[in-house]
Amino acid sequence: MKNLIQFLIFNIIIISFFSAFLSSCTFDNEEDFLEDYICDSIDIVYTDLTYIFSVCATCHSEAFTYRPGIEMDNYESVKSSINTGLVLPAIKHTGPYKMPNGLPKLPDCDIKKIEVWINAGMPEN
Ligand code: HEC
Repeated sequence: MKNLIQFLIFNIIIISFFSAFLSSCTFDNEEDFLEDYICDSIDIVYTDLTYIFSVCATCHSEAFTYRPGIEMDNYESVKSSINTGLVLPAIKHTGPYKMPNGLPKLPDCDIKKIEVWINAGMPEN
């Protein structure tokens, strides 16, 4: 009986750990340590982030941008946009403009990935 209870408790711990682990990029309310673990432990390159930047590019591309100097549709333009120093405050909602404009704030994990990538020197691949 005691063994059965231990077995059940062990399984509950394992299952909850893995479900938290698997969902950490889809839910905002995850524990920070899991988020840090997921986001810091992978080598992030430009192509890992294009699913985020393509949302920005609908309003900030070389063909058309609401803000000169902010273009998010290719590696070089994303890099120089970030180097203006305006992108991080915009996506973290700490600056005067909150991006993506009129849309929900990016998930914490996406913001974290961008920061990790910037700190790594914005590698292309
Ligand atoms: C629906 C259109 C739209 C989307 C999507 C969008 N932006 Fe913007 N963005 C704007 C507009 C409009 C402005 C303000 C332009 C102005 O008034 O000068 C702006 C301004 C900015 C600025 C200038 C902020 C400042 O402090 O001067 C940055 C940086 C920026 N956007 C980055 C982004 C990033 C990064 C994304 C993607 C996460 C994004 N935008 C998505 C429309 C958009």
